[in-house]
Amino acid sequence: MMDVLALYQLKGGVGKTSTAVNLAHRAAADGLQVLLWDLDPQGAATWLSGVDATLDAKSKHWLKGKSALGRYVERSAVGGFDVLPAASAHRLLDVLLNKVDRPERALSKLLKPFSEHYQLVILDAPPSLSHLADNVMIASDCLLLPVIPGFLAQRTLELVAERMAALDQPRRKMAAFYTLVDRRRTVHREQLEAAPVAGITWLQSEIPYASSVERMGLHRQPLGCFSGPSEPANAAYAALWQDVRRQLSRLRTG
Ligand SMILES: Nc1ncnc2c1ncn2[C@@H]1O[C@H](COP(=O)(O)OP(=O)(O)OP(=O)(O)O)[C@@H](O)[C@H]1O
Ligand SMILES: [Mg+2]
Repeated sequence: MMDVLALYQLKGGVGKTSTAVNLAHRAAADGLQVLLWDLDPQGAATWLSGVDATLDAKSKHWLKGKSALGRYVERSAVGGFDVLPAASAHRLLDVLLNKVDRPERALSKLLKPFSEHYQLVILDAPPSLSHLADNVMIASDCLLLPVIPGFLAQRTLELVAERMAALDQPRRKMAAFYTLVDRRRTVHREQLEAAPVAGITWLQSEIPYASSVERMGLHRQPLGCFSGPSEPANAAYAALWQDVRRQLSRLRTG
């Protein structure tokens, strides 16, 4: 049984990629076979996983359907999970996602063969409402939404919920959590104490603002590979993974 977990948000720079990489590491440490698919042409998840490959050089073959996408999977440097690197060529993913009959389900189709090897696929999606985002919403079992405490949070979550509804996707697939939390800031404290946006699952864990997360870019490793277990952000990601794991099994059993 393979679960598909997507890190998604309309907003950029909210920690989607950092979370995707850290959860991939945590899940692998729990003994799961994990594939992290970098769907963002910027390739940040690929970079943070210590992988240097892109799909571009080899893309001609898989665009023509001559070889399975699985051939291009790389091993993360130290995290214990696999990576499908970013396709940085202009519109490469768009082309891939449009060449089938029902283009909004192209990603679901591409993911199917991976269920033979993997128990968890984590999708790191770029921020936007787009054809790719539609694909991500349909293909995932759980849409994990990082939220920075603030007044726009509710509006962006509603926009995502509206798009999910338009695609006939159940709202219970959405799970939000707070990230980049700085409790010294009044706005953050107020938002965290206010009632959360209704109709969406909120995970208990929150990820603090921590410079250790930024240092992932320097080490090109998940936080848990260079930071101790009591370091606050590292501990927070470990707790978030436990929340996500429970949520995935809840969704699976209906
Ligand atoms: N908890 C955190 N504390 C401090 N910095 C963080 C935290 N989470 C992420 N960052 C930093 O914020 C920046 C954006 O993070 P990240 O790339 O994970 O976000 P993203 O949502 O994937 O961005 P994009 O929308 O551009 O894909 C990075 O520099 C990252 O190191
Ligand atoms: Mg990102």
